This record gives sequence, C-alpha cells and structure tokens, in this order.
Amino acid sequence: MNLRLGVNVDHVATLRQARGGHEPEPVTAALLAQGAGAHGITVHLRGDRRHIQERDLRLLKEVLAVPLNVECAATPEALEAVLPVKPTWVTLVPESREELTTQGGLDAIFLQGMLKPVVRELRSAGIRVSLFVDPVLDQVKMAAKLEADAVELNTGTYSELPMDADATLEIGRLRDAARLASRLGLRVLAGHGLSPQNVGPVCAIPEIEELNIGHSLIGRAVLVGLERAIQEMVQAMGEFRA
Ligand code: PXP
Repeated sequence: MNLRLGVNVDHVATLRQARGGHEPEPVTAALLAQGAGAHGITVHLRGDRRHIQERDLRLLKEVLAVPLNVECAATPEALEAVLPVKPTWVTLVPESREELTTQGGLDAIFLQGMLKPVVRELRSAGIRVSLFVDPVLDQVKMAAKLEADAVELNTGTYSELPMDADATLEIGRLRDAARLASRLGLRVLAGHGLSPQNVGPVCAIPEIEELNIGHSLIGRAVLVGLERAIQEMVQAMGEFRA
C-alpha cells in the first residue's frame, strides 16, 4: 500500500498571527504543498484560535483538490465551526489551552459517552472521522466501537526518544495498534513529531496509510522552501515504502 503524506500548515498561520496581518498565507502554503506532492492538507482549529482561523477552513475547502483534514476538540463550539465547512476528514484530538502542541492521544475509553454523539453527527454530515489515540490496543478497540472511520496513532512518545535510544518497544506498540486497527476495519494514520530523521521505522509498518506531519516540515521550509522540504520528506518516506 502506498504511504500518503498529509501536510499540516498550522505553523504558517502561527507566523501570520505573530503580526496579526495577512502574511504568510496558509492557504498559499497549502496550495504549494499540494503542488509539491502532498496527498492531503491538515489544519488544527484550536479553541484559542492561536493559528488557524475559521476563514482559513472555508478558503482551504474551496481551493484544495486534495482532502482537507481538520483537527479539533470534540466540543460544541468546534463542531459549530467545522460542520458547515464539510472537510473530508475531522480528526478529534484532546486539547488544553496551556499546551504548546497536542499532548497525548484522546482517552476514547473515558470519553466514550461524549464522543459517541459527536462521531455520529460528523459521520451523518458526510464527514469521515478519525480519532487521535495513543498506540494502546483498548483505545483502538474503542475507536472501532465508536464507529470512527480511522485512527491516527500518536507517534509523540516514539518521536521524543533520543536518536540513539532503542525504539523497539515504541515501534512495537505502534505496529500492534496499527495491526489491530486494520483488523477491526479502521483506516490507520499516524503522526506527531515525525521528521525525515525518525520517520523510517514508522513507514515500515505496513498498515499505516498516511502520515500527518507539520512542525519539522514547516521548520525546514523556512530554510529551504516548502517544495524542497516536502520532497525531502517524501524521499525519506519512500526509502522505507513506496
Ligand atoms: N497529528 C495530530 C493529531 C496533531 O495534533 C499534530 C500537531 O498539530 C500532528 C499530527 C503533527 O505533528 P507535528 O507538527 O509534530 O508534525
């Protein structure tokens, strides 16, 4: 199975918001990413609107040819903003105002009562739903029970390992979770903290269909341009899987 790259352009909007003006434009970045070979575009509409704004969602939906994936918390406020846009995917993530970035996966077991109607409402609006969960078998089982279409496995713990650490255990957790998710009929994505340097062992997990990558790509793009940053990432991914 081919491995797709979803490019997260949140941090283009982070830079824009730093001055409160119009530049750099995340919609332009998304179009450039699409032109450079991204298979999808991801944005996170945070409750505090620190980067992506509702206007970005509307424009992205209008101009993109590749699927738009909107990450958001499972709150009434987020749903009210996202539902009318009808992105291809919504990825439900945990969110707290203090965090610098998403910390850990959703506890789908603890939150099942709250998640169930949210998943149902999104799916009945024709939106595919992914749950961002840690690579824990019971969380994957709950995602299937909640009738999500996909899980995005959190690679954060793996990515935070020092480069010279033994990653066998973390890769094993991701592999087992991916295998179970696929057996349960879920589509399998992964992301958080991935870079050309650490992406290889994740790409080698055959059930994973797509990686969502933001920070390392946009950080690299500032230095060498978005097109080259995406090409480098696609090349690193391709060394492990076509
Ligand atoms: N997947 C999810 C659910 C995320 O919240 C994020 C961060 O916004 C990513 C993937 C991308 O992580 P990174 O920016 O570290 O590549």
